[in-house]
Amino acid sequence: MSKTIIVSNRLPLQIKLENDNSLKITPSVGGLATGMKSVHAEGNGIWVGWSGLTEEEIDSSTKKKVDEAVKKEKCVAVSLNEQDVENFYFGFSNKTLWPLFHYFMEYTEFEKDQWESYQEVNQKFADVVLEHIEDGDNVWVHDYQLLLLPKLIKDKKPNTTIGFFLHIPYPSYEIFRTFPWREQLLEGMLGADLLGFHTYDYERHFLSSVKRILRLDVKFNKINYHDRVVTVDSFPMGIDYNKFHDAALTHTNQNPKEKSELQRRLDNHIQSTSNAKMVLSIDRLDYTKGIPNRLRAFEYFLNKYPQFKEKVRLIMLAVPSRSNVPQYQKLKRDTDELVGRINGEFATVSWTPIWYFYRSMPFENLIDLYTSSDIALITPVRDGMNLVAKEYVATRTNEDGVLILSEMAGASKEMNEALLINPNNFEEIADTLKQAIEMPTEEQSKRMKILQKRLKRYTVEKWADEFMKSLNATKIKDTVMVST
Ligand code: ADP
Ligand code: G6P
Repeated sequence: MSKTIIVSNRLPLQIKLENDNSLKITPSVGGLATGMKSVHAEGNGIWVGWSGLTEEEIDSSTKKKVDEAVKKEKCVAVSLNEQDVENFYFGFSNKTLWPLFHYFMEYTEFEKDQWESYQEVNQKFADVVLEHIEDGDNVWVHDYQLLLLPKLIKDKKPNTTIGFFLHIPYPSYEIFRTFPWREQLLEGMLGADLLGFHTYDYERHFLSSVKRILRLDVKFNKINYHDRVVTVDSFPMGIDYNKFHDAALTHTNQNPKEKSELQRRLDNHIQSTSNAKMVLSIDRLDYTKGIPNRLRAFEYFLNKYPQFKEKVRLIMLAVPSRSNVPQYQKLKRDTDELVGRINGEFATVSWTPIWYFYRSMPFENLIDLYTSSDIALITPVRDGMNLVAKEYVATRTNEDGVLILSEMAGASKEMNEALLINPNNFEEIADTLKQAIEMPTEEQSKRMKILQKRLKRYTVEKWADEFMKSLNATKIKDTVMVST
């Protein structure tokens, strides 16, 4: 039976070595891993990716344990050494492609050594995938760390059907053209038969780069490339709606004794501040997420509308991410400082305006936070999709709550009933926060119902289904030929 091989840099499980040499296994954080996990669980395929450990950390007994843990999850680990992690992962992926594709030109480094490492590591991934491909298999490659992989597989196995999905924005041609190895990167991607993006805008930007840089013949969403046709389309990624909705329902009916410590603290807060509103934000600590903007806007709000002092609390969960990259370290310092300053300036004996958690949390605690919050404040300056916005909506089982969402997030394209803001406009964010706090429950419910209906229909399973249907359609040559 043919299978689908999913390939991404990170596996859905992340492995770390404890001091006593035992393994600490946690689920990977981020939209790609959380989204694809439910798709992978259903299928008969395998998932190829990096375990999070380097070759130097793994001795023979650890290797056996790692292999077992990975195999149990239907995964296959690609082995990376310290140099790879430094130059490919922290380096080219996260100091070049990530900032460039998110329009942070000033953070983007173009280092030849790192580019070479990127090519070598993409080849390492290709070698593992090629070992596992059988006739008739589909390969589905994910994200910016593996842009060269489709071509590396296609060159060796031309009959394999290859899909590629980019989980981050694809930048405009004016940004992409600055990239020194732009032809190779595009050719790498064009090894796929189907290329998917979250939004039509990203798709359009990609087609524009292909036309202007490679001078290829593009008709609508099809590219004539050598003797093949490559299809490009947008597939906005959804979430496992029922997982979040059902968890929230169970949570609401929870026996008080089963409540988590976090939930007890949240309950205490709700009881002790009878009319106080809880405003929630959850993100990886990443400069694309607009965390300083959010904090400054919250400070601006407290100054502009002092009547809300002691009546509103911002709960900010930031998950540690890519902490070897200097910009992430700086963001951590800036965030700590801003939170400290705002709490220092506004706190009273009975009220701290911001509760700040810098850690990963188990799923149950995420549900505690989503269900206890009146407002979600999501302010990325650039974001491919943003699944947190969708997860918040799915957990609102009483159809209440307000979502404030940046128009720079891909999710905003499908979530018009949210209150959309420009993350650089602090005054607008402050005014929108006031509007959200004062929004009548009927209006909250009207908006929430529409959002929920849409998310329930276009789940992550449906997203994957549509992608796979389009991928399979590329096998039928007659339907995809383009006249030149
Ligand atoms: P990104 O992919 O850029 O990290 P998304 O909002 O698309 O942003 O996806 C983030 C994913 O990570 C969500 O599915 C969310 O539930 C999960 N997540 C965020 N914070 C945590 C956390 N503290 N612990 C566990 N999972 C988290
Ligand atoms: C985003 C990216 C993913 C990445 C995730 C977590 O969702 O699109 O490819 O896996 O962030 O980042 P990390 O660097 O920890 O894998």
